[in-house]
Amino acid sequence: MTAPLIDLKPDTRTLLEEALAGLKATPRHLPCKYFYDAVGARLFEQICELPEYYPTRTEISILRRYLPDMAQHIGPQARIVEYGSGEGLKIRLLLDALSSPAAYTAIDISREQLQRAANALSESYPAVDIQPVCADYSSALSLPRPTHNFRRTVVFFPGSTIGNFAPAEALGLLRRFAALAQQGQEPGGLLVGVDLKKDRQRVEAAYNDSRGITAQFNLNLLQRLNREVGANFCLEHWQHRAYWNPTQGAIEMHLVSQREQQVKINGDAFLFSPGDSVHTENSFKYTVEEFTELAASAGFQPEACWLDDDNLFSVHYFTL
Ligand code: AVI
Repeated sequence: MTAPLIDLKPDTRTLLEEALAGLKATPRHLPCKYFYDAVGARLFEQICELPEYYPTRTEISILRRYLPDMAQHIGPQARIVEYGSGEGLKIRLLLDALSSPAAYTAIDISREQLQRAANALSESYPAVDIQPVCADYSSALSLPRPTHNFRRTVVFFPGSTIGNFAPAEALGLLRRFAALAQQGQEPGGLLVGVDLKKDRQRVEAAYNDSRGITAQFNLNLLQRLNREVGANFCLEHWQHRAYWNPTQGAIEMHLVSQREQQVKINGDAFLFSPGDSVHTENSFKYTVEEFTELAASAGFQPEACWLDDDNLFSVHYFTL
């Protein structure tokens, strides 16, 4: 079965513009949303299976354990909107637990993966209106209305992806979620997975895995610039680096130049000395209280929060 894809066209012109702007800025950076081309999406799936990368496994265990309770809070005939839907594994757990879900909108930047996942979901959930939307959700989107009647809109944002936005951007995103959750007969909510602050060793190991998959994921950003916008990064002259920044409350990922080198992108030349770094990702971690406060600033009331036994990860349900 095919679920017709709505393409809001996240295009590669933006990739070039944003890469050039980021590399000309101080400190140099590249936006982490560009990790997820087909290669990056596959590498990210591998990261989620790594022994050191606890967030995915832990969040799934929380979902499996508490989904009946979560479904009670969400109620029947909900419209679920998932931001960054990926492989679509967690939504299956949620749809299985909900009472007569009406519609599911899956938003993702990775077109092929999105279409594949949406087709498989249409097959498994013929009664649910499945809407795949290919888009970059870091800016405002105008989403299609479902054809099925629904009671309330619940935004589903698992995986601690909220942590990849700086708190001010996260607040903007949460405000947009709050506006979306107003659509429907009754006020809706937000079911969001948030990685918790913990000891440095554990969190640093999650971003420096022994198989080097996170390093490949990080370096794929340079490969993507080579493939798509004609850059000439020499991958063997760059190294992955990830560390906990206690002041920011975030894991920072960088690509560090291993030698004096010049890189050309579309007519612009960039010089790098040994040790120069390009900041590629922040992964902010929160305490339950810090995140509840952030969500409250966006207009959300805390309704429930579920944790694993080791307090590694949290899943919150907020309402309007
Ligand atoms: C998608 N996001 C929540 C991941 C994270 O943990 O920040 C991306 C990631 N980066 C390196 N490993 C995983």
